[in-house]
Amino acid sequence: MRKARLITVEGIEGVGKSTHLGFIHDWLKAQGVKVLITREPGGTPLAERIRELLLDASNEQLPAMSELLLMFAARASHVEYVIRPALAAGTWVLCDRFTDASYAYQGGGRKLPMQHIATLERWVLRGLKPDLTLLLDAPVQVGIRRMRGRGQRDRFELERKVFFERVRRAYRARARCEPLRIGLIRADGDMQDVRRQIIKVLQARLARWL
Ligand code: TMP
Repeated sequence: MRKARLITVEGIEGVGKSTHLGFIHDWLKAQGVKVLITREPGGTPLAERIRELLLDASNEQLPAMSELLLMFAARASHVEYVIRPALAAGTWVLCDRFTDASYAYQGGGRKLPMQHIATLERWVLRGLKPDLTLLLDAPVQVGIRRMRGRGQRDRFELERKVFFERVRRAYRARARCEPLRIGLIRADGDMQDVRRQIIKVLQARLARWL
């Protein structure tokens, strides 16, 4: 049996993550890959409840440290009960956000020390890393414009532009440090252009993996 892979999709709000995730899922299935689609924070009943706490805009008293720990509390459940079992059974996992988001949002956005996040990553994930991360990148202004057209905003979506600037900078810095794992996709073009870039990255990977 060929090794199952963990693929994650990242990016600031409004870059079209959900739309492109569906496309990636369908594309992988069309290549004959058995793939499970999931998300963070979330993916198990417990982690989905933690997600509700994290996104609830009425939770004003949530220190950045609690936010980080809740992200990893949710992740521990998701990795233990969904991701590891799926990979062990030969099912690929396509995850809407993963640990890179903690570095970008809690490290970049909230300015928590990156080494604390690295400690949690080592402790909780014990070496589990995405095989490939697609980082959908667009100027913050583009993301904010798309996000504002959506109605009710969650606790993160209420943040100001400077917060998302820091998040984007942290994501891009990670892509520069790990160019082999993180594929940077320019997501401000039209849908077909973004899809072409995604397919190019996926095809190159699958040629090596399958
Ligand atoms: P989503 O709306 O894209 O599903 O993501 C939920 C929010 O959670 C999004 O604003 C980013 C944030 N987030 C973090 O801050 N840290 C994390 O580790 C993860 C996974 C998500």
